Amino acid sequence: MIQATLHQLKVFETTARLGSFTKAAEELDITQPTVSSQVKQLTKSVGLPLFEQIGKQLYLTEAGKALFTSCQDVFTELDNFEMKIADFKGTKEGKLRLSVITTAAYFIPRILGSFCQIYPDIDVTLQVINHQQIQQRMLNNQDDLYIMSQPPEEIDLKSKPFIENPLVVIARKDHPLAKEKQVLLEKLQFYPFIMRESGSGTRKAVQNLFNQYDITVKVRLELGSNEAIKQAILGGLGISVLSKHTLTSACHEDLTILNVEKFPISRYWYISHLAGKQLSVVAKTFLDFLIDRTLLMEV
Ligand code: PGA
Repeated sequence: MIQATLHQLKVFETTARLGSFTKAAEELDITQPTVSSQVKQLTKSVGLPLFEQIGKQLYLTEAGKALFTSCQDVFTELDNFEMKIADFKGTKEGKLRLSVITTAAYFIPRILGSFCQIYPDIDVTLQVINHQQIQQRMLNNQDDLYIMSQPPEEIDLKSKPFIENPLVVIARKDHPLAKEKQVLLEKLQFYPFIMRESGSGTRKAVQNLFNQYDITVKVRLELGSNEAIKQAILGGLGISVLSKHTLTSACHEDLTILNVEKFPISRYWYISHLAGKQLSVVAKTFLDFLIDRTLLMEV
């Protein structure tokens, strides 16, 4: 049995997660020599190197990777235990780790705002990333809950749809197609198009539709953010397909939704978690809150 203290494991987990002794020292509010000596003692107990340093970069060895996974399991279990104890005492407190798709960033922070007002002792970590990055975090079991439009079929998940997320064609108001009452899908081929980056769920949905109807658009620009795409449309660089929700936040009086046949692409946001994962008290509380809040909402 390895002789390691919880503190050593915490120091190791932080260093591995941040990839740096200095950053770990900052996060844990201890000195860098303390971090180094704790990792050294742990390495001695394990009997194999946990890190290797190449240049300035710190890498986990195979033993380090295995220990990192175990540490994450241990700390998640301890967090869950604390949440249960808080729940027995009648309060909800602990950590909520959420990863949401870029389009949901226009909507989830508001829901989180009300949630945190009711549960001020819940700390939330929110990642806003694309479809491919969420999938990677799922594979690494990094979060409690995930919000996305197309939960990947190859991962064993429990998913629940909760609100519509239609994809629409957006143009600047003075675009030639903006005058047309009904735009034929094939007409999109004659105007510069702005596409989301590869790995994006929006891009995949758009490409599926275009492939289905044999449409080839002139991609003038690829951009990795919905906001940047809106700015590019405003700058006259082309038209694009975005979630309708991206239009609700700021004043977009110079943008319009084109009435293109086969659009909107109908989609839903799903809230998902790994099927084998025991949801924490806090994650369950958020899940119920979200479903309750969005039940009667319209897009
Ligand atoms: P994306 O996903 O950010 O990967 O394009 C958006 C969505 O699927 O709603």
